[in-house]
Amino acid sequence: MYSYGRSSAQLAVVSNRGAYTIQESYDRLVTRRTVGGLASAVEPVLHAQGGTWISWCGRIDNSGKDRGAKLSIPPGEPRYHLQEVFLSTEEHDNYYHGFCNACLWPLCHQMTERCSFEKAYWDAYRRVNQKFARITMETRKEIYWVHDFHLALVPQLLRNMSGSATIAFFWHIPFPPPDIFQILPWGRQVIYGLLGSDLIAFHTARYVQNFFDTVACYYPARIYPEQGLIRLHNRRILVQAIPVGINCHRFEQLAADPAVRARAEEIRRSLGAEKILLGIDRMDYTKGIPERIRAMAYFLEKYPEYCGRVTLLQIAVPSRNGIGEYGVLKQEVERLVGEINGRYDRTYGAVPVRYRYQSLDQAELVAHYLAADVLLVTALRDGLNLVAKEFAISRIDGKGVLVLSPFAGAAEELHGALLANPFEPAHLAAKIKMALEMPPQEQKNRLESLRRTIKNRDVRWWWQSNLKLVKSLVSGLSPASTS
Ligand code: G6P
Repeated sequence: MYSYGRSSAQLAVVSNRGAYTIQESYDRLVTRRTVGGLASAVEPVLHAQGGTWISWCGRIDNSGKDRGAKLSIPPGEPRYHLQEVFLSTEEHDNYYHGFCNACLWPLCHQMTERCSFEKAYWDAYRRVNQKFARITMETRKEIYWVHDFHLALVPQLLRNMSGSATIAFFWHIPFPPPDIFQILPWGRQVIYGLLGSDLIAFHTARYVQNFFDTVACYYPARIYPEQGLIRLHNRRILVQAIPVGINCHRFEQLAADPAVRARAEEIRRSLGAEKILLGIDRMDYTKGIPERIRAMAYFLEKYPEYCGRVTLLQIAVPSRNGIGEYGVLKQEVERLVGEINGRYDRTYGAVPVRYRYQSLDQAELVAHYLAADVLLVTALRDGLNLVAKEFAISRIDGKGVLVLSPFAGAAEELHGALLANPFEPAHLAAKIKMALEMPPQEQKNRLESLRRTIKNRDVRWWWQSNLKLVKSLVSGLSPASTS
């Protein structure tokens, strides 16, 4: 067994989905690692410091119990505790599918036509947030670090239970401008929930500004954008842009691994294309997958000399399967792939689009990054996008071009990318051509600039920046203490 040091006793991390799912198999609990940005960003801090992670682990329980297993994680070499929260079928439908994924998710991605504002969704959201807050408070930690749009009410609930708690919040998705946010019938309550925090962090300066503007619509707060500060009801709340980083060392290590490089060669050979365009995204309507395939069709129509020479390899990672819209999107993508391949596969050369619907482990992911000539991150709207960072860091060979949507949060930092508007097929097609024809020296220069930025703000920088601010609050240097 391991023992907790003083610092480990301090931290509770709270998020809807954590780094592990739990399944029951023949009376045994089997844990499985989840893939995803939040898990890979947050887990290193618990590895380094210990603590408790409170999360839903994918199990539905209708017996009325609010929590499941408490485990030491990772199995075999435990570094921190995992406290599982149960959701009932009703909560899963109305809180997770409903308020989280049919209200807040589309709203924050500015796709209001996809929002459905049901009172039952909101009621379930409040109840589930109360449950998370109650279980979290029982851990009696000094610092509570709450994550993402699923749990926006938790900070204020924790504050009500313990006035002296130190509470940080990280919002992982875009934060929209106020005229969009205010469409939410319960917008004021959501903002009030967040304002229970001492620190609220976002990926970009634009989201911070949108948040300030939204708070100003609901509350008579004094806002100091230059200091990243809100004063409200005798409290001070820090609001900062701290974009999530990646584990650069791990990606570089994999990129140098001969087995991964051999696999990259194998992928290239098997696609039989002179040039490979790559897309890797969760299957989500925010990621612009159909728009990318249509732009590829436009590209082949406009520049027929590329027919049979270029393939778009689109990996779509299964996500939110139980939600109707995601099934519709999958069908649309599959139809479009069939259509473009039917129309432009004229030469028996490279197939226009190759499509896989599955998740990849990290080694396989890096092999794909190395196999590609161009990575297309052309989301219609995206909180940040870690795939863009992982690609640039994996290209230790100095080759490859990143085409990036200006509507992905990462565009605020990644100046070496080629920006392309995903809503305009002609523009995207022109950028694809430019990327394919970019001279090697320019590719190298752009990648160097990208890699410098990404390395300066890696995953350690991210969690340390968050916790440094929080710890300054604990030690009384607090910009957030009452004044
Ligand atoms: C986004 C959110 C995460 C979420 C992930 C996967 O990246 O910011 O909080 O975990 O999507 O979505 P899911 O609904 O499967 O947890």
